[in-house]
Amino acid sequence: MPYYKKEGVIPMKVKFLGHAGFRIDDLVIDPFITQNDQVKEKLTLDDAECNIICVTHDHIDHMGDAYALAEKNNATIVAVAEIAFQAQKDGYNAEPMNIGGEIPVGDWKIKMVQALHSSPSGTPVGFILKKGDRVIYHAGDTGLFKDMKLFRYHNVDTAILPIGDRFTMGVEDAAKAAEYVKCNTIIPMHYNTWPLIEADPEKLKEKVKQDVITFEPGETKQL
Ligand code: NI
Ligand code: MN
Repeated sequence: MPYYKKEGVIPMKVKFLGHAGFRIDDLVIDPFITQNDQVKEKLTLDDAECNIICVTHDHIDHMGDAYALAEKNNATIVAVAEIAFQAQKDGYNAEPMNIGGEIPVGDWKIKMVQALHSSPSGTPVGFILKKGDRVIYHAGDTGLFKDMKLFRYHNVDTAILPIGDRFTMGVEDAAKAAEYVKCNTIIPMHYNTWPLIEADPEKLKEKVKQDVITFEPGETKQL
């Protein structure tokens, strides 16, 4: 049974902003809207109203609208030290942190974890986002790594995992990641934005026992 349907679980309002971008209640992660050809006709910055903006790394397809949203919403950017200190210098609210750290921000507890990828500044990361008894792991851009097994100790209910291959894990490794993390629900991301990262989430559904939830860009689900 999907975790969010279990008794006593407070659902979260999850909106897919395209690519790796999500709005989860008042938190946005990796906003890439105005420069994303797949969603820019359909979505605006108003779709990503938020108090908190988590950025996994400063590739454009993740950092894209972080500054614009921070300014528009007077929101706080949460990112690895190098990105966050630069954001502060540029005049934005930002919470610097690094891998292994967990900090309270608004209603959330935000833990930063490693990701296997590259980035212009600092190092790429993932986030374990905790609110009440809900725990969402957003992997950022990453390949599969065995230490994802450690994340199960955070009781992750939902894992947002890249499946587009080439720049990140593909479907097969995402299935293993879900097993390592021991999540209940998987939300695939970082695929079909461009031809180079075409992937089929139905193939993931065939490989895993978890619920796989897919979204159209701009779609909101209570999870
Ligand atoms: Ni990247
Ligand atoms: Mn990316």
